[in-house]
Amino acid sequence: MSDRSHSTLEEIAALREELSRRGGKLVLTNGVFDVLHVGHVRYLQEAAALGDALVVAINGDDSVRRLKGPGRPIHNAADRAEMLLALRCVDRVVVFEERRASGVIEAVRPHIYTKGGDYTPDSLIDEEKSLLDRLGIEIRILSLVPGQSTSATLAKLAGENRTDRAKTPRIAILGSGKGSNARALLEAAREGRLGGEVVVVLSDVPGSGILKIAESHGIPALVIDPGTEKRGHLSDAALKEMLDRLRSLGVDLIACAGFMRILREPLLSAFPGRILNLHPSLLPKYPGLHPVAKALAAGEKEAGCTVHLVDAGIDTGEILRQEIVPIRAGDTVESLTARIHEAEHRIYPEVVWEVLEVRSQELGVRS
Ligand code: GAR
Repeated sequence: MSDRSHSTLEEIAALREELSRRGGKLVLTNGVFDVLHVGHVRYLQEAAALGDALVVAINGDDSVRRLKGPGRPIHNAADRAEMLLALRCVDRVVVFEERRASGVIEAVRPHIYTKGGDYTPDSLIDEEKSLLDRLGIEIRILSLVPGQSTSATLAKLAGENRTDRAKTPRIAILGSGKGSNARALLEAAREGRLGGEVVVVLSDVPGSGILKIAESHGIPALVIDPGTEKRGHLSDAALKEMLDRLRSLGVDLIACAGFMRILREPLLSAFPGRILNLHPSLLPKYPGLHPVAKALAAGEKEAGCTVHLVDAGIDTGEILRQEIVPIRAGDTVESLTARIHEAEHRIYPEVVWEVLEVRSQELGVRS
């Protein structure tokens, strides 16, 4: 059994020493690997070909839950290790619980460290890059197989499951601004990657970009008059109107995409665990207004975005997913916001899909 289970860091470090003595090279990569697909296999084969032994560091189960949300990992660490070790190109697997693999890199000191093709040496966070540079570790970015990814695989499975379902989940998007995230959600819906259909877009701002984007996608776009409450709030009448509209449209899930007003009762109880929000910071840091400017002013090394469930607080609900966006020297609010938006457009459709498909029973979403 021992060759089927993961190794300790000490065992990997010993392997590295042995290889070094023989003039060989140890290659290290890391990831979750909870749904193996051919993209993984080709990536790992390419990584293995760079040296004499390939070590795969996988995130432990708690670490995956923190990174990807409560529906993941699909398979636990012991099973993931066993599957990876069954591949001829993988020599050892090690499990780590931290968010990043820096501890493993430091302990193992591989000769070569590889990342998948959506990374560039620039997008490695400063801490990771300076660690690799300090230890003289070669960084190799390997190309990914187009169309082969974990989320595509999960979406395919969900699509197949849906054929015998009576109802497609119905989604409402709420927003006040430009609507770039609404566009990402609408495109994902059109491509069958959202797990549901968008049936309405509501905005508190007449003429806002999000309404135009909805119209260009042929989705009903409605303005809700927020009333004369103070900034960031909604009148009772506005809440009632929203609730009536959402109910009459049979909405299952609400996705806030830049909606700059606080939702409260009776709306929250009408959609328990089914209202999502997107926020451009690594919550609990910088809730509320101007999070990007605040992160820059505080001299943070990294910013990012969070998808969370909405509760009665301001950006306080259960965190479902976060993505780190490294801050670069010379970043401005605009340049950093643009990169955060890219991350948001990538993760928000995935999380909506996950909530609808993976957590549907737990959340009571009709599907
Ligand atoms: C997004 O960055 C979103 O995270 C943020 O508003 C932006 C909307 O952009 N949301 C919040 O600040 C919520 N507190 P978009 O209109 O282009 O999608």
